[in-house]
Amino acid sequence: MTNEELLQEAKEARLHAYTPYSHFQVGAALLTKEGRIYHGCNIENAAYGPTNCAERTAFFKAVYAGEREFDKIAIVGAPEGEEPVGMCAPCGVCRQVMMEFCHPDTFRIVLSGENGEAAEFTLREMLPYGFGPANLGK
Ligand code: THU
Repeated sequence: MTNEELLQEAKEARLHAYTPYSHFQVGAALLTKEGRIYHGCNIENAAYGPTNCAERTAFFKAVYAGEREFDKIAIVGAPEGEEPVGMCAPCGVCRQVMMEFCHPDTFRIVLSGENGEAAEFTLREMLPYGFGPANLGK
């Protein structure tokens, strides 16, 4: 699956966003090493704090389904009613969740670049010196 195809999956996931407070809609498409895709959207909450980001929705759905081996994740975000063209980088909490399940040098984060082309980063680039299971000897 190309980065462009995975970004398209993330765009479709974004249509499910529940965002009555920020009106900023995010979609994510998480690809497993075996080629399955898990979609996620942001789900907001009146108490704000319990809001779940699109990336974590995708990860938690996948982990619940028994997945443990991940290849890459595409993320798109933009205000409601706008096309997600610019780069929407994952928040720190989502990077930490990726660190739990993904190797920082092989797992890739795909974003739509400012020029409309896909931009790709490793998890290590996005979360240098991250703390993960290896730090606990796991
Ligand atoms: N959001 C995500 O879904 N993913 C991110 O990585 C950044 C932020 C959501 C959370 C909230 O619903 C909205 O974007 C505005 O912060």
